[in-house]
Amino acid sequence: MCGIMGYVGPRDAAPILVDGLRRLEYRGYDSAGVAVCDGRSLVVRKAEGKLSRLADMLDADPIGGSAGIGHTRWATHGAPSDHNAHPHTDPSGEIAVVHNGIIENFIALKEELGAAGAVFASETDSEVLAHLVAQEYDGDLLEATRRAVARAKGAYALVVTSSREPGRIVAVRMISPLVVGLGDGEVFLASDIPAILHRTRDIMVVDNGEIVDVTVDGARLQTIDGRAVERDLLQITWDAAQAERGGHPHFMLKEIHEQPQAVTETLTGRLLDGDEVLLEEVHFPPGFARSLDRIWITACGTALHAGLVAKEVFEGLLRVPVEVAYAHELRYRDPLITPGSLTVAISQSGETADTLAAAYLAKERGSRLLAVTNVVGSTLSRTADDLLYTRAGPEIAVASTKAYMTMLVGEYLLALALGRERGALDSAAAAHLVAGLRTLPRVIEEALGREDEVRVLAEGFAGHEDAYFIGRGLDYAVAMEGSLKMKEISYLHSEAMPAGELKHGTLALVTEGTPVVVVLTQTATYDKTISALQEVKARHALTIALAYDDDTEIAKHADRVIRIPRVPDLLAPVPSIVPLQLLAYYVAAARGHDIDQPRNLAKSVTVE
Ligand code: G6P
Repeated sequence: MCGIMGYVGPRDAAPILVDGLRRLEYRGYDSAGVAVCDGRSLVVRKAEGKLSRLADMLDADPIGGSAGIGHTRWATHGAPSDHNAHPHTDPSGEIAVVHNGIIENFIALKEELGAAGAVFASETDSEVLAHLVAQEYDGDLLEATRRAVARAKGAYALVVTSSREPGRIVAVRMISPLVVGLGDGEVFLASDIPAILHRTRDIMVVDNGEIVDVTVDGARLQTIDGRAVERDLLQITWDAAQAERGGHPHFMLKEIHEQPQAVTETLTGRLLDGDEVLLEEVHFPPGFARSLDRIWITACGTALHAGLVAKEVFEGLLRVPVEVAYAHELRYRDPLITPGSLTVAISQSGETADTLAAAYLAKERGSRLLAVTNVVGSTLSRTADDLLYTRAGPEIAVASTKAYMTMLVGEYLLALALGRERGALDSAAAAHLVAGLRTLPRVIEEALGREDEVRVLAEGFAGHEDAYFIGRGLDYAVAMEGSLKMKEISYLHSEAMPAGELKHGTLALVTEGTPVVVVLTQTATYDKTISALQEVKARHALTIALAYDDDTEIAKHADRVIRIPRVPDLLAPVPSIVPLQLLAYYVAAARGHDIDQPRNLAKSVTVE
């Protein structure tokens, strides 16, 4: 996730671009840059670090010119640095691009362009696009971009400009968002409406597979194969604060709704045809997966809960023992971590002090270290032998949602890769899992479609002071995360436990009306968990079951049912967590809490 901007009009482009990028910094902020056409040539300025560094550079040495493109980066390919910052140009410096998303076939394209003599200035996937447009260019930027895009595969948005055609910008949307703002004699392009809302309220949303040709006379929209498109303008009425949150009252709700897109990005380029998976920064030595005798998983908070899901998935698919350890515990144990094992450290930020300490310990003991993290270039990612970036984009709400979701999806990908290499997963089983993973963005979308039902349920929840979440196996892992979400933002006392454990003590706390959420997606233990539900029902608890759409039994047992779309049981944590995130959100909203910044908590805990 990155933020992109474009401007054509009568005014100086650079300040307008920087201002828009500032409003897009929530999409990434590890480097930024602009390219402005001064009428003769393109002037590019870019810098690693926060946007303020670029702004200072431009203040000290302004660039004139009334058309340009800009970018604020969230690294995916290539660490944050000046040379990996966008815009990228072709070798002549006549074509510049900014790009958000991933070019899946960039290695093949780099090889092809390299064989023809191209030299690259960055490690990014994006730079190939500048070369491709240059190669295709014969006097018409629109046609060159169209032909270049036909050679690139992936999910992305792209904005292109050229000194050969000053005052013209071409942009393409392939899944990643892109909007056009129409002002009075000027046109704006941006990843998201908040970047330009204070300039114009006339917004044209570019749809998937469309290309837009922008000049000072306006914006012409076409499908990528050249059919003209008429698009009604949207009149946006949000205020500035609402716009920043995509029209949602809180970042947390926005991020919950971003999950289908985030998962699309996690999967992009990683699922190949049939049963193969490509993890670009996981490089196990030959024979490693086969000889692997134990996997350690270490993390804190929500990331630890993603680790609980991974344990079930890895043990089930790989048939290898998995130990999940809180990082703050592991670091002070004398754990039996041995060479030949794999340690998976999971951390959204890659900066949690305890997780880092546990990761160092595992390395010291000779374990191979794999990081599942969202932040490229974080300390954890620089420490690890192998990397799986989750690509959730920046998460602003303290209570993690989309970062957790993409951790889950990353773990399935890892299980597939390890399972194939280990010989534990045959081709048919792998193909089945790959097919399931491909459905997840749609499945999450469907789960989000039940938001109103969850909101109604939350109203009945908000007056309580205690809640319990139970489940078995994968459902227990989900119960842990659902309960943590509830605690973090609603401040209800909430506990999660394996469904069979309740009767060994905690049942004493269940009284009339106590809400108990029972997660019931695992076929193998379904009947046993129903028994646990009946036990709390007998104590007059308010039982809320989370079950598949096609579960016709459950309504006979539970007081309320939250429905999720049917998926293979192994993938159930993905849809299951969505209503539990929403439930916590609406309970907290009903109680009037500061949802994005809950008391006493921090997004990233970099101290012990
Ligand atoms: C903090 C946050 C949690 C997060 C945990 C681990 O406690 O409030 O939401 O799960 O840190 O963070 P990490 O960045 O390592 O995933």
